[in-house]
Amino acid sequence: MNFEEKKILITGGSSGIGKAIIAELYRLGARNFAVVGRDPEKLKKLGTRFPEATFLYLEGDVADLEQIRHFTTTLTAQWGKLDILINNAGVVSAGPLEQISDEDIIAQQNINVTGLILLTKYALPLLKLSPEAAIMNVSSGLGAIGMPFYAPYAATKAAVRQFSEALRRELKDFQIHVMTVYPVATDTPMMASANTGNMDTPEAVAANAIKGLSNGEIDVFMGGEQAAANRKLNFEHPLEFDEKVKGMYDAMRQRATNHRAM
Ligand SMILES: NC(=O)c1ccc[n+]([C@@H]2O[C@H](COP(=O)([O-])OP(=O)(O)OC[C@H]3O[C@@H](n4cnc5c(N)ncnc54)[C@H](OP(=O)(O)O)[C@@H]3O)[C@@H](O)[C@H]2O)c1
Repeated sequence: MNFEEKKILITGGSSGIGKAIIAELYRLGARNFAVVGRDPEKLKKLGTRFPEATFLYLEGDVADLEQIRHFTTTLTAQWGKLDILINNAGVVSAGPLEQISDEDIIAQQNINVTGLILLTKYALPLLKLSPEAAIMNVSSGLGAIGMPFYAPYAATKAAVRQFSEALRRELKDFQIHVMTVYPVATDTPMMASANTGNMDTPEAVAANAIKGLSNGEIDVFMGGEQAAANRKLNFEHPLEFDEKVKGMYDAMRQRATNHRAM
């Protein structure tokens, strides 16, 4: 895929994996970005970091329907089409289910799933005008395998996976590639409150994601062979995988105890 002329809309491009995806696309020649995020200060720093690119800063909340409509109205007026939609914005609130606040459970759904679906819905007419379009949805390793203390988050990320699959099949008659990316623990601000080490870099995740996009892959999993073996075991023998998870239970509880990035 030649990125030079592509018009790219990315949510959560002001931090972590999203910012690394912008850096990777910029390295490959992309120059036109629209970036959604709630904090205008974080958004504006992108212009300094990537001086040769043109940015549309779409300040707002992907969980807010009126703002989503406003984002796509702006893109219609400014660009008239869209080539790549990257649904990356996401939040997490972990812990034992009974201890996660109702507000956090609802917000995770609204931001990670409902907002993603609505933005995609409103972006589709613009993507259909592109001769070579793509939708990249950022799920999580926890969307492929459910792990303890991340039940509401895992539910949102599994929904992202299924949404991508259904939409890919629905769009068979259009030049719109639909793909899903599954990062595992990655060293970003989202993980600052998680008690864990040994994380991927956001740059490595971004490079894999964009390589997958260029190669027309539908699922880009991180975590290497061990994660692949876990997915296979979990799919074929979930009760055996339950036994394996028992050995990780305390570590997962520790990791999740204060893990909140909303
Ligand atoms: N880091 C990991 O270990 C990991 C692992 C698996 C999957 N993921 C997924 O990867 C994606 C990126 O995560 P990250 O680690 O890069 O997180 P991050 O560093 O916290 O960045 C999240 C980005 O999303 C934006 N955002 C959050 N809520 C938003 C909202 N309601 N409306 C608009 N923008 C919003 C944030 O900007 P504002 O705060 O300014 O809005 C920020 O730019 C997420 O979907 C996450 O679930 C991450």
